[in-house]
Amino acid sequence: MKILVTGGAGFIGSNFIYQQLAYHNDEIVCLDLLTYAGNLSTLDKAAKDNRFKFIKGDIADREFIYGLFAVEKPDIVVNFAAESHVDRSIKMPEIFLQTNIIGTSVLMDACRKYGIKRYHQVSTDEVYGDLPLDRPDLFFTENTPVHASSPYSASKASADLLVQAYYRTYGLPVTISRCSNNYGPYHFPEKLIPLMIINALNDKKLPVYGKGANVRDWLYVEDHCKAIDLIIRKGRSGEIYNIGGHNEKTNLQVVKIILRELNKPESLIDFVTDRPGHDRRYAIDPAKIHMQLGWLPETNFESGIKKTIKWYLENKTWWEEIINGAYKDYYQRMYEKR
Ligand code: NAD
Ligand code: DAU
Repeated sequence: MKILVTGGAGFIGSNFIYQQLAYHNDEIVCLDLLTYAGNLSTLDKAAKDNRFKFIKGDIADREFIYGLFAVEKPDIVVNFAAESHVDRSIKMPEIFLQTNIIGTSVLMDACRKYGIKRYHQVSTDEVYGDLPLDRPDLFFTENTPVHASSPYSASKASADLLVQAYYRTYGLPVTISRCSNNYGPYHFPEKLIPLMIINALNDKKLPVYGKGANVRDWLYVEDHCKAIDLIIRKGRSGEIYNIGGHNEKTNLQVVKIILRELNKPESLIDFVTDRPGHDRRYAIDPAKIHMQLGWLPETNFESGIKKTIKWYLENKTWWEEIINGAYKDYYQRMYEKR
């Protein structure tokens, strides 16, 4: 079988590729535009495997995508490619619409034209909006209405609606997964956990939005990839699967755990201006994927964060190249006013 993995040079896509190469004997074609978030060095080890091939290109470029499908004829498409950072979407929404919505429709049109066993859309719990902080009994289920807050989540929700429409109208065999916040190796340094690890290691301030009271439901990236593996092979066409591990933490708790693990002082914490429209709490009910596919998370936050910190300590070259490159100027421009 041949699997086309889009966005495979990013955080979750690369972890998925390594897991697929370890677990199965399928061919993997990785398609990635190598935006600021894509990093070819992340795939260095995969490139040594003759079942793996990398192609640079844009999921929203129709001519290019049709040409690729005509040649590669993938059996399964797993679409990780996206603009994925909420703060960026607040400053520059348009590229989120182009990649996340148009790109998804182009990929699905190619699937219709060339035939496919399964198109899988990697979506997010953010499409459900947020939950109040004082109702810990509430969780997102697959039946929770879509209610997006940021341009990023609105673009992901739009893509999900398109995927459902292609299933209903054209009978395209699709699945959607909606996962909570991931963490682990190859996580881009603009996101909370890697940013805090790297800043703490460099004795720099740790910028916590608002009071740090917002809650995220953290899942170790390998557990997310295992869930997607089950869905593409055993999941029912037309279905949505929520993925999450009941690992809820406030941002302040997460930051304090990182400081403790690195033996750094809490005086590094810097409370800064809040994110506009900041979602309060995400919390997934993963009962459906557990009941239907037997999936359960294997890594709790306490051990996952230790593994993640160890990875960042052992892979300094990977993140130093990023934070010392073009990203440095961007970060200053983006966050200088707070
Ligand atoms: P990421 O930003 O680390 O990686 C995205 C990848 O997509 C990059 O390699 C980038 O180069 C590539 N890309 C961007 N635009 C492209 C285009 N037009 N054509 C081809 N490639 C393009 O993102 P991530 O955190 O790995 O997230 C992957 C997917 O999972 C996204 O769809 C995201 O919405 C979803 N998701 C992420 C999380 C999370 O916590 N990170 C949780 C749930 C769902
Ligand atoms: O829930 C899944 C989503 O998780 C994915 O769909 C997104 O692609 C992914 O980026 C992530 O979105 P978040 O906005 O939750 O992640 P982020 O790492 O940007 O922020 C996590 C929390 O930490 C959030 O409440 C904002 C806060 N934060 C973030 C940054 C970057 C800070 O307090 N300080 C920061 O510097």
